[in-house]
Amino acid sequence: MARTVVTMPGDGIGKVVLEEALRVLEAVGFDPDYVHADIGWEYWINEGNPLPQRTIDLLREHGLGLFGAITSKPKWDADAELSPELKDKGFVYFSPIVGLRQVFNLDVCIRPCISFAGNPLNFIRRTADGGFEEPPVNVAVFRQNTEGLYAGLEWTDPPQNVYDALATHPKFKNWSQYEKSELAISTRVFSRTATRRIMKAAFQYAEKHGYKSVTVCEKANVLRETSGMMEMVAQEVQKEHPSIQHWSANIDAMMMWLTKNPEDYGVVVAGNMFGDIVSDAFAGLVGGLGFACSANIGDEVAVFEPTHGSAPKYEELDPPIVNPIAMILSAVMMLDHIGEMEMAQRIRKAVAAVVAEGNVRTYDMMKMPGGPNAIEQGAATTFQVTDAIIAKL
Ligand code: NAI
Ligand code: MG
Repeated sequence: MARTVVTMPGDGIGKVVLEEALRVLEAVGFDPDYVHADIGWEYWINEGNPLPQRTIDLLREHGLGLFGAITSKPKWDADAELSPELKDKGFVYFSPIVGLRQVFNLDVCIRPCISFAGNPLNFIRRTADGGFEEPPVNVAVFRQNTEGLYAGLEWTDPPQNVYDALATHPKFKNWSQYEKSELAISTRVFSRTATRRIMKAAFQYAEKHGYKSVTVCEKANVLRETSGMMEMVAQEVQKEHPSIQHWSANIDAMMMWLTKNPEDYGVVVAGNMFGDIVSDAFAGLVGGLGFACSANIGDEVAVFEPTHGSAPKYEELDPPIVNPIAMILSAVMMLDHIGEMEMAQRIRKAVAAVVAEGNVRTYDMMKMPGGPNAIEQGAATTFQVTDAIIAKL
């Protein structure tokens, strides 16, 4: 079947690692058409828009995107670097990946955190007799990607009607002593529709991939309304999946337990911010940013990306030293998504073999500081890691 994948390298090391994922896809025999799409800092500087309309159009047309990483900078840097002829014309920087999630309602974010045997970055824990053990971690975090605290529904010095509306709540009396201009407000709004969608996706994934539990990682004892809605919806959806258990863990307690018994968890589901936190925490147990892959899935469009950013401090290094595995595993998620399970499995096995053998490792896997000296100190280049994976294929 003819298929087109939209490639969005973005900035910095995004450009490096995306190219490596394409080499691996080619080696496994995946042969779609590719179409390049512009995204990132360069387009902010030159066009005042880091997510040009033509990129949105390409994604709408083809439905499938591979994304590297972008550079985002604070407001003042964004304004300063904007090309002179665009200055003071009302252009406002926004994160293009957050933009993509909103434009296409990519509301289901999946972040698998699965340890590869032999990875020196795997979490280990001490046993009672003073020895060590390395529990295998196999978790898939489902993060609601569009709502909650990261939806941008916030104000400093809120409009009067917002202030007045809040003042109708009895709990607001603690702040009614302050001037409006002294207040900063970020809201956390959940909809039942989006909550049901993430929950259904989580339970379906658990069933399909053989997990026995879905853990809601929220804080329903305090955030009684929003986290409470997640818990209620989880109870409903669980009835449609009787073979999967519904567990609950508060986000704070989870941060403690996941270094105690991470092997107990399967699918974990959370709102936007807690999902961000818990997915980084689990990623840290299985190798960190060099291994952390993700998918952003909506009804019509799906975009696959490593969770790391553009790592500007390494973007100039030639040859590059960053780990391509997070991007390669993101491409593997794309293969799974479109039903190419066999190719996906072959790549996973090849990555596992390279990690287990340990002959070809980027600086992060060597536990070295990154930088221009990493290669001469024995770290493999980005290209060498990809080559080793391809050789296994
Ligand atoms: P970052 O993820 O780019 O890098 C942080 C550090 O993690 C790097 O300096 C490096 O030590 C390590 N690292 C990252 N990717 C690695 C890889 N593949 N292999 C080995 N080590 C790796 O995060 P940072 O430095 O906070 O942000 C840099 C830029 O990236 C910023 O402009 C930020 O806004 C943007 N960013 C973009 C994201 C995206 O495109 N989805 C996500 C996170 C940050
Ligand atoms: Mg994060």
